[in-house]
Amino acid sequence: MSTKEHTVRIEPHGRSVRVREDQPVLEAALAAGLNLPHSCKSGHCSSCRAQLLQGEIRYPGVRPLGITAEEERSGKILLCQARPLTDLAVEARLSAPVADVEIKTLPSRIAGLNLLAPDVMQVLLRLPSVERLRFHAGQYLDVLLEGGKRRSFSIASPPHDSELIELHVRRVSGGGFTERLFGAPGSTEAPLGVGSLLRIEGPIGQFSYREGHSPILMLAGGTGFAPLKSMLRHVLETGRRREIHFYWGARHAHDLYEQARVLEWVRREPRLSFTAVLSEASAAEAAHCRVGLVHEAVLADHAHLDDFEVYAAGPPAMIEAIRSEFPRRGLRAGRLYFDSFDYAPDARR
Ligand SMILES: Cc1cc2nc3c(=O)[nH]c(=O)nc-3n(C[C@H](O)[C@H](O)[C@H](O)COP(=O)(O)OP(=O)(O)OC[C@H]3O[C@@H](n4cnc5c(N)ncnc54)[C@H](O)[C@@H]3O)c2cc1C
Ligand code: FES
Repeated sequence: MSTKEHTVRIEPHGRSVRVREDQPVLEAALAAGLNLPHSCKSGHCSSCRAQLLQGEIRYPGVRPLGITAEEERSGKILLCQARPLTDLAVEARLSAPVADVEIKTLPSRIAGLNLLAPDVMQVLLRLPSVERLRFHAGQYLDVLLEGGKRRSFSIASPPHDSELIELHVRRVSGGGFTERLFGAPGSTEAPLGVGSLLRIEGPIGQFSYREGHSPILMLAGGTGFAPLKSMLRHVLETGRRREIHFYWGARHAHDLYEQARVLEWVRREPRLSFTAVLSEASAAEAAHCRVGLVHEAVLADHAHLDDFEVYAAGPPAMIEAIRSEFPRRGLRAGRLYFDSFDYAPDARR
């Protein structure tokens, strides 16, 4: 039996999309090429908040964490979770910086797999020779899997060097997709190797580098380095330099898998600074780097954040801490850009 569909009008874009009753509005909009603001797709980060102008929605469970009861009463909804019960009209936020690139579904082939750290794989993807993926530094793509599943990974290569698309994939224990890349013993699914085909959809997301003059704080947690690497290479290799303080947090030193490259950039670029922060440093590691959480190191170094723009990518807990603590130090509204590396909504806990 086919699931009922509804028409959802999305303002101010003036676009209408057909959405199944069991489908999140955001998913249908992205599939139709409309790059609406979002990040986690799990109902946590509030990036996809929109105003319901007309119609009725439901959430799959209780009210998602990313929306308060008061916001709900005033008609706010989270598009990544909302399913339509009737035809809808919604007012989404505009996402001008990335509106000029088209979301495409493309076949790609794994052209290289390199172990960067014990649990981080560099994946290099090659597109068919007639295809090109235009994207902004910081955006991500979805790997499309069987059964309609998809897994998100940030693009680590910069837009001007898109011959091979670089991803940094952290192995997730029990992870349906990532374990296949690491050839986990006992995995029931076929391992992925050089030459394997992957269907991808992208570029997606509003986490993208904005040209400007304000000094920047960049915070990466683990493979949150990937989108920031794209941004840093974009800035360093295309010439528009500005003051950037880059903080990279991880558990141990070997998790800062491209630290040598970052230090080389710092040697060449006087306006770039780098701070490594380890949360589970051994005594030997603690002698060479900061110990603690990455956002705490930023707060310890900068009493006032009024002048900064902040770019952050990594685990949801890191993003949550930044969102709640940085505004209290003066970070201005609209100057925090982030991607929260949540699990896919279909991942079973
Ligand atoms: C915008 C975005 C960008 C991302 N970019 C990157 C990137 O560049 N690099 C990168 O390494 N990752 C990135 N991620 C995270 C990445 O998408 C996931 O780690 C990946 O989907 C895991 O896929 P999997 O199929 O291996 O694991 P899944 O099969 O999806 O899940 C694996 C395991 O996690 C457990 N699990 C599921 N949900 C939860 C939960 N809520 N809490 C705790 N455990 C849970 C499951 O029990 C299972 O054992 C990004 C995520 C987003 C949203
Ligand atoms: S709450 Fe919807 S994208 Fe994060």
